[in-house]
Amino acid sequence: MKMITVLSISFFLAACTQNPPTSSQPVDEKTLAETRNVATQLVSTLGAALKKEIATNGAASAIGVCNVAAPEIAASLSQQTNWQVGRVGTRARNPNNQPNDWQQAALNTFAQRAAQGEKFEQMETYSVSQVDNKPTLLYAKAIGLQPMCVQCHGQSAQISADVKARLLALYPADKAIDYNVGELRGAVVIVRPL
Ligand code: HEC
Repeated sequence: MKMITVLSISFFLAACTQNPPTSSQPVDEKTLAETRNVATQLVSTLGAALKKEIATNGAASAIGVCNVAAPEIAASLSQQTNWQVGRVGTRARNPNNQPNDWQQAALNTFAQRAAQGEKFEQMETYSVSQVDNKPTLLYAKAIGLQPMCVQCHGQSAQISADVKARLLALYPADKAIDYNVGELRGAVVIVRPL
């Protein structure tokens, strides 16, 4: 009997965290546009730095861009805005980039929306929650896998021995491989007190 109760509670909890996040409270267009803009900035700054480093010094060297510059760019945007800005993965390379429950639910919705044909470029979701008793915007913007990304996130055959060795040294618990182009890779996530 106890077992059944425990089971049903955990099913109930699982069902809760699986629920797609909804915009419980309306968020004005200006707030949303500012938030979206910061998310886009993270993706484009990082993408540009990555592209440049791969072109000049190759993928193995560009691991430094992701390893050092990605958290730095996110930290600098967080500092400028006073929000929390970061990235999460559907399968994380860096354990710090593991999604929390809300973010996991957001990723689940993104995967469903992509399966229905929606493009990643415009894909976002958000909701307003009480965090430390303050209304807070939780925001996520989808990140899809592009051809450039397979050098470090693709199938084994697409990743050079050099890159593999560096990834293994830096991320012994790396889960962020075996992705295909067009697959959901993760999201930019923002926590913004309103
Ligand atoms: C040169 C290798 C390299 C390339 C190319 C690369 N990444 Fe990464 N990626 C990494 C590394 C290293 C990390 C871990 C960063 C960290 O420690 O925060 C990472 C982490 C991430 C994360 C955060 C979640 C996680 O798994 O930790 C996302 C999202 C991501 N990459 C998306 C992409 C996308 C999209 C592209 C293509 C536009 C791309 N990456 C190209 C090496 C790369």
